[in-house]
Amino acid sequence: MSVLPILQWPDPRLNTRCDPVGTDDISALIADMFETMYAAPGRGLAGPQVGAMLRVFVMDVGWKDGEKTPMACIDPEVTWRSEEMATGPEGCLSMPGVLAQVTRPAEIRLAYTDQGGVLREDHLTGFAAICAQHEFDHLNGTMHFAHLPETERDRLLADYGALS
Ligand code: NI
Repeated sequence: MSVLPILQWPDPRLNTRCDPVGTDDISALIADMFETMYAAPGRGLAGPQVGAMLRVFVMDVGWKDGEKTPMACIDPEVTWRSEEMATGPEGCLSMPGVLAQVTRPAEIRLAYTDQGGVLREDHLTGFAAICAQHEFDHLNGTMHFAHLPETERDRLLADYGALS
């Protein structure tokens, strides 16, 4: 296993739609993605953030609170979104130093293949629902700030630009 470099915005790969994994064995990539996410340290990491242009993300929403719950999602699809929305601060390992106040559906259902090759469908709530939507967006080349109103988006991009 190895820690991979994390691409930083505005790398164009972060704006690119990823390809399905299908039946390819990507267990080595997933192991590296978990190691990279824990080292960052972060709670979610999507393939394109390490230059793997495939529809896969990993997340672990509990590990920073002492409870490891690793989850790898291959070829995920959001099959249901709640009408109830939630707003909260989101960071991104590809855009360190800034937070976006993003509004998203509070709950979702996510269908995906796990790291063992098992097809699953989970009902996600709370931070897990938000994190999964953030990572799912990466697979479509969408950054968190795309959800912001224009003035907030401009401010976030200016703040980020001032950091580099
Ligand atoms: Ni991100």
